[in-house]
Amino acid sequence: MDSPLNTELSANSASTSQPGDTIPAGEPSRAPTPAKTPLPPAAKAAPRSVGAVVESTPDAPVNKMRRRIVWASIVGFLTTCFLMFLRFFLPRSILEPSSKFSVGFPSDYALGVDTKWQQQYRIWVDKTSDRIFVIYARCTHLGCTPDWKASENKFKCPCHGSGYDSEAINFEGPAPRPMDRAHVELDAEGQIVVDIGKLYKWPKGDRNEFNDPGAYIPL
Ligand code: FES
Repeated sequence: MDSPLNTELSANSASTSQPGDTIPAGEPSRAPTPAKTPLPPAAKAAPRSVGAVVESTPDAPVNKMRRRIVWASIVGFLTTCFLMFLRFFLPRSILEPSSKFSVGFPSDYALGVDTKWQQQYRIWVDKTSDRIFVIYARCTHLGCTPDWKASENKFKCPCHGSGYDSEAINFEGPAPRPMDRAHVELDAEGQIVVDIGKLYKWPKGDRNEFNDPGAYIPL
């Protein structure tokens, strides 16, 4: 009678074939399976072969701030050059206000000298019984602006004392000639248009331009 131990031993001996064993007919051949043996740690850390890919170490981090400063300097330099290039082609002109302007209707003025445009346009509007004209407020000595002295009915230059009558004709001081008069004309509405870009003069010993067309408006 077989014991359980003998039965197990016989089963193991049957499942493990030995060299020289005869495989019974009808049974599939079974190759011996090598036992898996875990590799020792030294085998895992073995050095790589010659043909293995070597990973390169990453570059050192770039100094981004320094790169920004360099680019900002380059952009600033190029912008300056471009602006200088444009400035070279722009005209260096001084924009001055127009020399022509309107001062209202002849009926707006009473007889005598009106000084309301002195500050804005450096002129006086002078109205007589037969004409209206515009005096350019510039002393003919050295170019100061005289003052209108209504109580004395004359212009007086504060710089060197030249005096002019109510029509700006010089009669005292170093002024060599009367003050100039500006071109005047009436526009389509009947307003007085003054042009201080065109002046009428009366140089000493020369022709008097005060009676030329444009030097006054007849009333
Ligand atoms: S500038 Fe008017 S008197 Fe000399």
